[in-house]
Amino acid sequence: TRRLALSAAAVLTLSASSVAWAQAPIVIKFSHVVAADTPKGKAAEHFAKKAAELTKGRVKVEVYANSTLYKDKEEMEALQLGAVQMLAPSLAKFGPLGVKEFEVFDLPFIFSSYESLHQVTNGASGKMLLSKLEPKGIRGLAYWDNGFKSFSLNAPIKAPADLKGKKMRIQSSKVLEEQMRALGSLPQVMAFSEVYQALQTGVVDGTENPISNLYTQKMHEVQKNLTLTEHGYLGYAVIVNKKFWDGLPADIRGQLEQAMAQSTTYANAIAKVENDTALAAVEKSGKTTIYKPTPAERLAFKKALVPVHQKMESRIGKDVIQSIYKDAG
Ligand code: LMR
Repeated sequence: TRRLALSAAAVLTLSASSVAWAQAPIVIKFSHVVAADTPKGKAAEHFAKKAAELTKGRVKVEVYANSTLYKDKEEMEALQLGAVQMLAPSLAKFGPLGVKEFEVFDLPFIFSSYESLHQVTNGASGKMLLSKLEPKGIRGLAYWDNGFKSFSLNAPIKAPADLKGKKMRIQSSKVLEEQMRALGSLPQVMAFSEVYQALQTGVVDGTENPISNLYTQKMHEVQKNLTLTEHGYLGYAVIVNKKFWDGLPADIRGQLEQAMAQSTTYANAIAKVENDTALAAVEKSGKTTIYKPTPAERLAFKKALVPVHQKMESRIGKDVIQSIYKDAG
């Protein structure tokens, strides 16, 4: 009986600790597919740090990089199911969710610079686009930069014809599919986590990415040629499960919004530098020949790719494209 009494006391002690349990931090699982050492990877870590600081430890953000938790397609489903709370997918990956308008960001040559892009993401059309996520149970919190994409392959790329007949890996966007078709290449949708191996084994011949993604996935080790076409933009929407977000205590949500604002400033300040550093590292590796097209050569890509805008009008919406043109300047 003494033993029993003791264990009853232990149970009491345990339930008393449920008071402490109630103080356990709110956990936000933030899953993403790129390396930690990238613009998105660093910005996610920055957000985790700021969130802990500003909420005084009431929120713990757990960042899972490099597709360790979910790959492209799974992470969107996991967010909707509430298995993760936060993601920052590329703007090119919202089509399968039924939000086709985001593919406007994939239109080749639509932004001439980061400044022009920011006029969109910080403006009315940026806000309008994020609101399209609401009916999917998703709240869009911010846009984070990565950068401009360039083509890579195991053969020199100087003209659009050099990509003809090549199997090119793309993100899950119909605009990117059309872009590759406009060059006569064969687009292949594939999760980011599988690209390195697909390039290595020849499942695809080439791809397009900002240099920070190419370098941190070691794609340059299996791509002999990189041409700095900078023909399109790749960036992110930071998104949360709406039900989770709306259910947070108001003070905490406010602090997290502040942490997000600071992390967005950080993300957009480092993105170009990260890509420039990655390019220097690719060059230093000596594994890939980097080619900078002449203005005339780049213009030839532009001429080949701009018709994609009109072709995709019915998918994205003419009004959406027009409002982006207007904001982009
Ligand atoms: C890709 O799949 O190439 C990119 O969207 C990866 C990323 O998240 O930057």
